[in-house]
Amino acid sequence: MTAAGTQLLTQRIQRIEVSATLAVAGEADKLRATGADLVDLGPGEPHFPTPEHIKEAAIAAIRHDFTKYTAVGGTTELRDAIIRRHAADFGSDYKREDCVASVGGKHALFNAIQVLVEDGDEVIVPVPYWVSFKDIVRYAGGEPVYIATDERRDFALTADMVERAITPRTKVILLNSPNNPSGAVMKPEDMTAVLKLAHERGIYVVSDECYVYLNHTGQRLSAGSAHEAKEHVIIIGSLSKTYAMTGWRLGYALGPAPIISAMQKLQSQSTSNPTSIVQKAAVAALSGSQDCVKQMLAGYIRLRDQIVAGLRSIPGITCAAPNGAFYAYPNVSHYFGQKGMKSASDVAHGLLHEAHVVVVPGEGFGTHDHVRISYATSPENLQRGLDRMRDFFASV
Ligand SMILES: Cc1ncc(COP(=O)(O)O)c(C=O)c1O
Repeated sequence: MTAAGTQLLTQRIQRIEVSATLAVAGEADKLRATGADLVDLGPGEPHFPTPEHIKEAAIAAIRHDFTKYTAVGGTTELRDAIIRRHAADFGSDYKREDCVASVGGKHALFNAIQVLVEDGDEVIVPVPYWVSFKDIVRYAGGEPVYIATDERRDFALTADMVERAITPRTKVILLNSPNNPSGAVMKPEDMTAVLKLAHERGIYVVSDECYVYLNHTGQRLSAGSAHEAKEHVIIIGSLSKTYAMTGWRLGYALGPAPIISAMQKLQSQSTSNPTSIVQKAAVAALSGSQDCVKQMLAGYIRLRDQIVAGLRSIPGITCAAPNGAFYAYPNVSHYFGQKGMKSASDVAHGLLHEAHVVVVPGEGFGTHDHVRISYATSPENLQRGLDRMRDFFASV
């Protein structure tokens, strides 16, 4: 950008960056266009198709001309379906006015941070973090305060770590369990302790639960189950990963009615309602049989076991145990200093250009020694990726 160009743009747009995952996808696309056969372990989305009954509901919505504006925060039918699903799965007791449907979980998160964070407010962000957290906070004028987790403890976030980072300027604690990119899952006692701590100090917890149904421990955990802390908790949910619906764009927030109402006000001046047809599909997803979710989860657990075992058998690579989502986050620093590689970005670059395997470097997630590997792909493709990675690391 030229100096003149920079002056054209607002301060706030210059505070943020293009998502690191999108940058990797762009580089991979260029290589693919030259005819390269890539094993793509980059994208953060399910490889499963959207279940049939969900697609049918959308087709029926079109046929029945359900194609006009709806209430800004989603139809009452959809909001009721969201709160009923959450109540059934997590014992929560949200009311219709505590719920807003948005154009994806990212949109709900963006709106929540916009209505809660003022210039100079601190937002606690555990590391590694999903790429968008820091930019969404910065765009709102907030300051991300990063807290490190320990890969030897599988990147688990504890209440002590959070407590040490709190200052008088802390406005929000951002939780994300299961975590993108590490797959870390908070222990129930740590989640409860963070919620108690936040509630007592008047700090908001924004809990990004986009992967809440992709928990491999057999124990699903939502911050929305803690009734005592409810006044300070905002749940961000999404149908993207749970029902393999990333392209449909349907997410939601659950929280105190005044916050939800402010989020709706913001939404009323930007996107308005999520797509009407998608809302019908979402009702079918949330209210229909949940067997599809169970089946996909079982598939992810098998793939997780395959990738973790495969990575750990490559000399020099260590890999914390991912207990949720569909990512592995191995440490590749053993290879720094070899073949001119000095960083995770260099390793990702080498893997892309020499082994034709797409992974996302850890820098975008706040760590320097790791790459993120999405195992949401077929077992055969995952094996091809592992074989190529093994050959690449053996050759350096
Ligand atoms: C942690 C996390 N939160 C939110 C999202 C946003 O999902 P969506 O906007 O598709 O609902 C993602 C997507 O990758 C994510 O990984």
